[in-house]
Amino acid sequence: SKIRVAVLVGSLRKDSFNRHLARAVERLSPADFSFDHVRIDNLPLYNQDFDADYPPECKRLKDEIAAADALLFVTPEYNRSIPGVLKNAIDIASRPWGTNSFAGKPGAVIGISVGATGTALSQQHLRNVLSYLDVSVLPQPEVFIQNKDGLLDADGKIGNEGTQKFLQGFVDRYVAWVKLHLRR
Ligand code: FNR
Repeated sequence: SKIRVAVLVGSLRKDSFNRHLARAVERLSPADFSFDHVRIDNLPLYNQDFDADYPPECKRLKDEIAAADALLFVTPEYNRSIPGVLKNAIDIASRPWGTNSFAGKPGAVIGISVGATGTALSQQHLRNVLSYLDVSVLPQPEVFIQNKDGLLDADGKIGNEGTQKFLQGFVDRYVAWVKLHLRR
């Protein structure tokens, strides 16, 4: 059976560069990997009162993450950190206490921004959160991409050979990392 990757994109924007980047990674991945984008735009804002009786959308999020073999976070940088929508989804899936849906899964963090930091600071904060949540995050290569016109299209086609090779290198390491953790 296929290795199932839950993809969490940290932008709700219709033409999100990060969603395009997620598609690009998917295109470069082997046929035994499948990618499911996890919906985070219809979640309530996390409230600890939920823990007594978790809302259906929050349970749905937890179930989708729990069902995945591996995780892929593709996120912009908002004000030098993690976008609130993504942090909210992570907080929801990490709770109620003792039922962290991320625990023990392999994953990776990548991103693209308009600014020259290429999401480096957002990713560093996200790595901190994910290591607390017991996700084994691929250490290298880091993927910090600055958007340029024509770099990525909505289908994930990459308009630049250097970027294509670089991303293929990331995908190869990610695939090996996931298989190592799953012992496959
Ligand atoms: C940004 N942007 C941004 N870019 C960056 O490189 N570093 C940053 O700290 C920020 N901060 C920031 C805050 C907020 C609230 C917004 C809306 C934007 C710009 C960001 O890179 C750009 O909007 C990207 O297009 C966002 O990614 P998506 O939505 O295209 O995936």
